[in-house]
Amino acid sequence: NKIYSIAIDGPAGAGKSTIAKLVSKKLNIEYIDTGAMYRALTLKVLRNNLNPLNKNDVIQISKNTEIDFIKNHIYLDGEQVDNEIRDNIINNNVSYIAIIEEIRFNMVKLQQKMAKSKSVVMDGRDITTVVLPNADFKFFITASVEERGRRRYKEIKEKGKTDITLVQIIDEIKKRDDIDSNREISPLKIADDAFVLDTTNMTVDECVNSIISIVKGGI
Ligand code: C5P
Repeated sequence: NKIYSIAIDGPAGAGKSTIAKLVSKKLNIEYIDTGAMYRALTLKVLRNNLNPLNKNDVIQISKNTEIDFIKNHIYLDGEQVDNEIRDNIINNNVSYIAIIEEIRFNMVKLQQKMAKSKSVVMDGRDITTVVLPNADFKFFITASVEERGRRRYKEIKEKGKTDITLVQIIDEIKKRDDIDSNREISPLKIADDAFVLDTTNMTVDECVNSIISIVKGGI
């Protein structure tokens, strides 16, 4: 059994993590959600009442922070924070944390270590380009910003939150995409050798099957 890696990048709300999770189950390999790692650090910064824009404070606190995945759950200093990191306040601040070069350097190191000795599917913004540039399979998963907004809106409504409009959500997604795509260090972009999957008019199952068939044809 050969070790292989599947790298997935794409903008916010394109369905990467939903798809990656199902792919990992079907192939029986580990899923690593790198966005969750940046989110966990953002949670710590906000809990400590630090300003995400204050680079030095963020770097300082990151030095005393432990971020880990255990059985598909994300842990911040030993506390499981799967739900906390999905709050909208995290959505709206995480890209400021992810802009910082020193933070990225350490996250990338950690992610590369996680993928070293086992087969993984890993998703994020710089996986196909920086973290696993030699991945066996590369995908760029995207969808129109309106469709991504509608998906996120539905998710938020299902959680019972009612004080936010679809237009607001779409604006927030646009803003996050803009920061992620235009930052200096490891911006979100389509790798030359990535397979682009536009999921605007696709079901989750169709996306998963399309990835599985490409991977199965290649291993
Ligand atoms: O994928 P998710 O929406 O959870 O990612 C949250 C944020 O973390 C992204 O908007 C981006 O700013 C940052 N991120 C990143 N590099 C990654 C994964 C996430 O910069 N590999």
